Amino acid sequence: MFEKLKQRWKVNGLNLVLIIATFALGGSLCGYAGRKILMFTGLEKGALWIILYVLLITLLWPICVLLISIPLGQFTFFRKYIVKIWGKISGRNHKTGSKITQIAIFASGAGSNAQQIINHFNASENIKIALVVCNKPGAGVLTIAEKSGNPSLLIEKERFASGDAYLTELAKYKIDFIVLAGFLWKMPVNLIQAYQKKIVNIHPALLPKYGGKGMYGNRVHEAVIAANETQSGITIHYVDEIYDHGEIIFQATCEVAANETAASLAQKIHVLEHANFPRVIAEILQK
Ligand code: GRF
Repeated sequence: MFEKLKQRWKVNGLNLVLIIATFALGGSLCGYAGRKILMFTGLEKGALWIILYVLLITLLWPICVLLISIPLGQFTFFRKYIVKIWGKISGRNHKTGSKITQIAIFASGAGSNAQQIINHFNASENIKIALVVCNKPGAGVLTIAEKSGNPSLLIEKERFASGDAYLTELAKYKIDFIVLAGFLWKMPVNLIQAYQKKIVNIHPALLPKYGGKGMYGNRVHEAVIAANETQSGITIHYVDEIYDHGEIIFQATCEVAANETAASLAQKIHVLEHANFPRVIAEILQK
């Protein structure tokens, strides 16, 4: 548990001890000060004193923790910590005041694109990867989510396709934008309607060719090679009710060599995807 906290807060052992001490002393000071204020004002006698007390300690807690953090040398950590909590509550960037866009990545495979997207937005102040959604237990993308400290949600078909499409969970994580990065299930109509022009997908070929139901993974590359295409590439597009059909946002191409195999083409496509997908997402969100 302590090792996990050290990694998460990026601190050493001594700092961790001082941080825990700050939490404990700050919490006690806050409780003590809250009680004293209520007694001093005579408000602890009224019927609503518990509500007032809770409100008061909520207000006092950041002040008390910051005060205690000064002598314990942990002020910088706690200032950042409190600003982060405030950002979560308000959903706004503390510096610019602009809204933070919360992204959910839907993926069911190895997750190399998900990893690139997570890395790209890791330091962003306005765009946050808030959730990784996956339909395959044990998929690589779940490990990526865990290692990067992102929450993940494992979904099942019945509820996704014929139920509420997990809109409740997406609302809970305040998701504004959805990125499909190797997610094979069709998006249900209720989800598309709730996120009009806010769902994008990446397809490993130049749509409108080589898309549609069943066209995924090596099947796409095999079809491209079988048709003697000299070029393939990637397509980033908005998602609508039809597989691989929504408005195209971006395409990039690569050469299909004479001796190309599905595996070698897949490699070229991944390079294109990693170089472009995070950047294009950022551009869409900045518009
Ligand atoms: C990518 O090639 C993408 O185009 C397709 O699924 C693949 C996912 O790969 N939709 P990864 O799991 O991101 O490595």
